Amino acid sequence: MKRIGILTSGGDAPGMNAAVRAVARKALDSGLEVFGINYGYAGLVAGDIFQMTSATVADKINRGGTFLYSARYPEFAQVEGQLKGIEQLEKFGIEALVVIGGDGSYHGALRLTEHGYNAIGLPGTIDNDVPYTDFTIGFDSACRTAIDAIDKIRDTASSHQRVFIVNVMGRNCGDIAMWAGVASGADAIVIPERDYDMQEIADNLKQGLANGKSHGIVVLAEGVMSAEKFKDELLKYGDFDARANTLGHMMRGGSPTTQDRVLATKLGVHAVELLLDGKGGLAVGIENNKITSHSMLELFEEKHHGDMSLYDMNKVLAK
Ligand code: F6P
Repeated sequence: MKRIGILTSGGDAPGMNAAVRAVARKALDSGLEVFGINYGYAGLVAGDIFQMTSATVADKINRGGTFLYSARYPEFAQVEGQLKGIEQLEKFGIEALVVIGGDGSYHGALRLTEHGYNAIGLPGTIDNDVPYTDFTIGFDSACRTAIDAIDKIRDTASSHQRVFIVNVMGRNCGDIAMWAGVASGADAIVIPERDYDMQEIADNLKQGLANGKSHGIVVLAEGVMSAEKFKDELLKYGDFDARANTLGHMMRGGSPTTQDRVLATKLGVHAVELLLDGKGGLAVGIENNKITSHSMLELFEEKHHGDMSLYDMNKVLAK
């Protein structure tokens, strides 16, 4: 193997640049030639590919977003799209790839491996919804952004004795809501993985205010419903001065945290080691603080298991 390619795919996440840097530098140090593929699978099919040097990835480790750009490209699920991608790999002499994205992006990586182009997946998404990894690249940074925002919301909530519903991203996964909720001392956390009782939430908020709390914060995962809808439902159970906020895409921006930069670096280096060993179709992750890899086929059969003890703990601490 002489040449590898790197692409980022799906929703961008802080730390993707640190992962690209680690892959590129480790590969260059191992005597490989490295090619950046812009705009994920869309750029692969279009041949938007360039040779990277060590300097290409300089000044990138601290930057949010992905300098390789990203795209959602469902066309790559079709054989026709894959064959067009392979045409470009052949043209550039690229024999193997590292794909950084959510598990949706791994399907393309597995198809390429099946076509004879080893591909390794790195979990790059703020959602933390990828199986066989305790953390995805970008999750910690997104939580930091969420708690920064919630801390600010708490200031205004306290000044007006208001209840705020704060909707956080995460697609169908409640991890951001759980971690940001615990870290910001939320009065309630509402996630897709658990049923909720609106009466109980309203009663706890009322009790909190009666006990001398000057605010109520509900951290709501986007996979449950919108902040506005939740607020309207809540108002049927109590006469709160309530406001709804949706953090949205701002959660994907910003400089990555230490944890995300280091995680991205470790995973990126390991991805290259696997390619050098002639392996493909594997997804790299971190489990119990150890870097691991699992077959993508195995991963597609599994679900991400969040740390539900956080949810239970918060119910006790919010009282
Ligand atoms: O997967 C990352 C994510 O930010 C989710 O949290 C969110 O549901 C989705 O992407 C938003 O997608 P888009 O950027 O296409 O609007």
